[in-house]
Amino acid sequence: MKINSICCIGAGYVGGPTMAVIAQKCPHIKVTVVDLNESRIADWNDANLENLPVYEPGLDAVVAEARGRNLFFSTDVDKAIDEAQMIFISVNTPTKNYGAGKGMAADLKYIELCARQIARVSKQDKIVVEKSTLPVRTAEAIKNILDHTGNGVQFQILSNPEFLAEGTAVQDLHNPDRVLIGGEDKDAIKSLVDIYANWVPAEKILTTNVWSSELSKLTANAFLAQRVSSINAISELCEKTGADVSEVSKAIGMDVRIGSKFLKASVGFGGSCFQKDILNLVYIAKSYGLHEVADYWEQVVIMNDHQKNRFSRNIVQTLYNTISGKKITLLGWAFKKDTNDTRESAAINIAQNLIAEQAKIAVYDPKVSEKQIKEDLISLDENQLKLIQVNQDPYEACHNSHAIAVLTEWDEFNTYDWQKIYNNMLKPAFIFDGRNLLDKKQMTKIGFTYIAVGSSNL
Ligand code: UDX
Ligand code: UDX
Repeated sequence: MKINSICCIGAGYVGGPTMAVIAQKCPHIKVTVVDLNESRIADWNDANLENLPVYEPGLDAVVAEARGRNLFFSTDVDKAIDEAQMIFISVNTPTKNYGAGKGMAADLKYIELCARQIARVSKQDKIVVEKSTLPVRTAEAIKNILDHTGNGVQFQILSNPEFLAEGTAVQDLHNPDRVLIGGEDKDAIKSLVDIYANWVPAEKILTTNVWSSELSKLTANAFLAQRVSSINAISELCEKTGADVSEVSKAIGMDVRIGSKFLKASVGFGGSCFQKDILNLVYIAKSYGLHEVADYWEQVVIMNDHQKNRFSRNIVQTLYNTISGKKITLLGWAFKKDTNDTRESAAINIAQNLIAEQAKIAVYDPKVSEKQIKEDLISLDENQLKLIQVNQDPYEACHNSHAIAVLTEWDEFNTYDWQKIYNNMLKPAFIFDGRNLLDKKQMTKIGFTYIAVGSSNL
């Protein structure tokens, strides 16, 4: 099937950028991205590209090039499904918060709703592509629903997991390390391979069976997260022994068998995928009775929780065991730099922990809105919420603070006038650098008590 019309259900961090790049690179294909969320679609259609709902460097230029030409954003899901030969499912698959598998399994409610809607609306044969990260063998469930429509329409299911990282999504989509396509039907696979072949070299397009493809996505995220937890485990040991985790990272990373990436000690990993996908893997392993496998991977998440909690505990202990009434400034709220996404961001945990100790929190993040920050803290009561203020200006956020915690590695933090910030803080002035971003020597010279992750402060 030569594809000239695509629909994507889900205009989020994955669906939006991925479809924008497909449309950019394939001007001969009409790409319609649909979503139930009307305000999200309105933002994707906003004439002012600064209002796109997803912030990603370079995304505005891609959208500007393709939108209105062959890239469309709409809430008319039925129409887009009906018109498309190929449908990507890119809806969210959060961790289940009820019933069996609560807190671990992926909630496939939205996926099933999509499958049922596709089954109901389709009048012609279609290829359905799983883009969302899914538990192994989900394709089987989707196929089951689609095959029982009774109206004779044929569906082929492919798995095409997305490996883009937020903050570098456009770059990752333009130059992927690999594109993975899992499926059984050769023609359907070829239709999708042909789309990517418009800009991705053939040797980087990998085809596998559906189950390998689904499992590869979970495994890739589990391995990446495991590296972060591994180096974070070592960071705690470094703090006790006088070793420096940056030096250890460099030394081990130069071994080509280990490699240098994903070895940066931090306040803990965040993002919508790592924790969810590992818990999902753990749940699947348990459901097959593989308890050792499940325990092995669960430890990655346990270590990450420990890293976040010990970071906030260290702030309390260092500030003479009480932070009640003290102002602490959080620089950064996003789960990493160059994104406005805050899902599972370590900042949320840190803020909750500090507020539980009755600290006053000031937050500054260059891309995250006050509304989002307040939504992330929805579990706090009214009095606790009064303890949090969000500033538009970093200098104001730091004014009269007892301590600063750097929680996101935004480049701009390195460009600040730190002498000025120091002058306006209470003394002793502390910096807890959860990203090892700032220059320790410079900070110490100014007079800060500078505390990094993974190096001894003796
Ligand atoms: C999501 C998943 O979290 C991830 O596992 C997967 O790999 C890709 O999809 P993301 O794009 O970051 O990632 O999620 P999100 O930004 O929440 O976007 C999902 C969108 O789907 C939302 O805009 C939501 O409104 C929409 N949606 C959800 C529908 O349009 N229909 C539904 O039935 C459910
Ligand atoms: C991840 C995967 O990288 C991507 O392939 C997949 O499609 C989705 O999940 P993402 O969560 O967007 O992408 O960002 P990533 O760069 O992987 O960072 C995840 C978290 O780990 C961030 O909080 C980041 O700050 C943290 N991290 C990463 C570290 O703490 N140290 C590191 O060395 C690397």
